[in-house]
Amino acid sequence: MSLTSRVVATPAWKVFAKYYYPFITRHGADDVVFLNLGYEEDPPMAVPLVASDEPDRYCIQLYHRTASQTDLTGKQALEISCGHGGGASYLMRTMRPASYTGLDLNPAGIEVCRRTHNVPGLEFVCGDAQNLPFDDQSFDAVVNIEASHCYPSLPRFFAEVARVLRPAGCLLYADVRRYDRFAQWEAALADAPMRMVSKQVISEQVVRGLEKNVPRSQQMFTRRTPPLLRGLVRGAVAASQAKICRGLQSGETSYRMYCFVKD
Ligand SMILES: C[S@@+](CC[C@H](N)C(=O)[O-])C[C@H]1O[C@@H](n2cnc3c(N)ncnc32)[C@H](O)[C@@H]1O
Repeated sequence: MSLTSRVVATPAWKVFAKYYYPFITRHGADDVVFLNLGYEEDPPMAVPLVASDEPDRYCIQLYHRTASQTDLTGKQALEISCGHGGGASYLMRTMRPASYTGLDLNPAGIEVCRRTHNVPGLEFVCGDAQNLPFDDQSFDAVVNIEASHCYPSLPRFFAEVARVLRPAGCLLYADVRRYDRFAQWEAALADAPMRMVSKQVISEQVVRGLEKNVPRSQQMFTRRTPPLLRGLVRGAVAASQAKICRGLQSGETSYRMYCFVKD
């Protein structure tokens, strides 16, 4: 089977997990440390950032808002699907957990994390959200941002989170779905073996963040593009982001943020 027919015959979650993110890792610029859509409120959040974090403001704000649903100070935190580790580094530096472990399925992404983020207390491991390589009750908080749409089984993911959390531990969770997966998503959320303590639809804030982040995304995608093709790539990035915004604005897709507690 050719690569193209293999990709076409593969379920969407598998394509993203197996091909798309490793592709971004191989071909993105070295400073691509966030892979989410971004977040901004009205009035602007104006989260104070150090100069080196400023270019990633909108992606950072999604982490900031999601993780602020609990106090991470002194806690042992796990991030499942940390991507290139920008959020892990930001939360470790600013929210002061005792330790923070970032896990991702993409080995090349974990290499980027280890090379790029040298922060005491922060470590990265390669692993699967569906089969976490940790003992029962080893963490006080789990962070999961814009990744669960890639997992083959959401119930299996929630069961794994509940297993590794200590009693009173929190899942700080944000993700997006298209309308044809709303019912399946809501059923998994309702059956999660943890108590839902907050739920917010944040599509509007994600659209605002995404729109403000367009110049940064174009810059990241064109850094390694030959100069002659840059205009083309810039246009393609803007068009694909405008399509995502239209979906979120029309309600065809919904971006949500949750906090769950393990009783
Ligand atoms: C949209 S990216 C988000 C990354 C990061 N949370 C961020 O906001 O920058 C989704 C991530 O999920 C990871 N992923 C996909 N399937 C996974 C799985 N089964 N287990 C762990 N990580 C997975 C991908 O490798 C990718 O890094």
